[in-house]
Amino acid sequence: MKALVLSGGAGTRMRPLTHTTAKQLVPVANKPVLFYGLEAIAQAGITDVGIIVGETAAEIEEAVGDGSKFGLDVTYIPQEAPLGLAHAVLISRKFLGDEDFVMYLGDNFIVGGITELVDHFLSDRPDAQILLTHVPNPTVFGVAELDDAGNVARVEEKSPHPRSDLAIVGVYLFSPAVHEAVRAIEPSRRGELEITHAIQWLIDERRDVRSTTISGYWKDTGNVVDMLEVNRSVLETLEPRIEGEVDEESQIIGRVWIEEGASVRGSRVVGPAVIGRGTVISDSYIGAYTSVSEDCRVENSEIEFSIVLRDSSIKGVRRVEASLIGRNVTVTPAPAVPHAHRLLLGDHSEVQISS
Ligand code: DAU
Repeated sequence: MKALVLSGGAGTRMRPLTHTTAKQLVPVANKPVLFYGLEAIAQAGITDVGIIVGETAAEIEEAVGDGSKFGLDVTYIPQEAPLGLAHAVLISRKFLGDEDFVMYLGDNFIVGGITELVDHFLSDRPDAQILLTHVPNPTVFGVAELDDAGNVARVEEKSPHPRSDLAIVGVYLFSPAVHEAVRAIEPSRRGELEITHAIQWLIDERRDVRSTTISGYWKDTGNVVDMLEVNRSVLETLEPRIEGEVDEESQIIGRVWIEEGASVRGSRVVGPAVIGRGTVISDSYIGAYTSVSEDCRVENSEIEFSIVLRDSSIKGVRRVEASLIGRNVTVTPAPAVPHAHRLLLGDHSEVQISS
């Protein structure tokens, strides 16, 4: 069994992280979302992984390398443009050969891994196995309709009037039957070869298409509340580790990971929280469900239930809560006089000011 991981797509700037180009590298508890997928694949016993890359290939290749740090053997498959998930399968024919494979969308996050799913697939050997989950916003997903017996009756892509709230999750298991399907379909109205249409083709051809409904799923939809929530749930499972420096005046409470090269001085860190490499926390309070990435400075500040991406600094500010702070951001207090907010905000920013 092989894996095909989709990490292509255009380098469009992702909302709200305007400086993050590859959306698969958005961090959850200081680790790119893509890495959780690669780890899940390795855990399921798969080693041969093709990664589809597009405009952001350099960034992805730099982060993942040859895959050996995950115990994987990675082959990069360049896609000339994001022409659709089924197009990604089409161009991977040589890599995939005649093996079964799991297709994993690099911006999807699934709690609990895929091992059980892969094992089921291998014992039942349907032509396709999809994962479904109930969502409040089915219009932005592919959606499946099940018949009374629970079989997949129909799938559709981003319908304005979805037939159910069962979103298709970005992990699919396929037998080689899918290759005929991706060759048979035409591009959709949005100009993409849709995997959803390939699955519908298999259903129409009376092939065996099965589904499993799961909970514990997240996909980046540019929604800060969701992102803080997935960060919170991953931090809940964090193993406490103090690898960096913590001085005598500091207090570390609960599930806290101070990464190697991080330094905590005169501060209180209450977990679950993670402090990244090269980050310095001084005279500050870091509260629960906070991830501070690498090379940040937090001085004389309080921050809780937030995500701070790398190279940012927060100095003399109390108190930052439920916030997502991008890369290379500076947050400081304004001078006392005049009493005014001074803002330099990137595209698509959102600010809530207490005044
Ligand atoms: O996330 C689940 C959803 O993924 C499903 O519910 C939909 O049925 C499915 O079509 C897909 O929807 P999106 O339109 O949201 O997919 P997106 O364009 O975000 O691409 C998903 C991942 O695949 C992302 O990591 C980028 C990568 N990709 C995408 C395309 C279109 C590629 O590598 N190549 C591509 O051509």
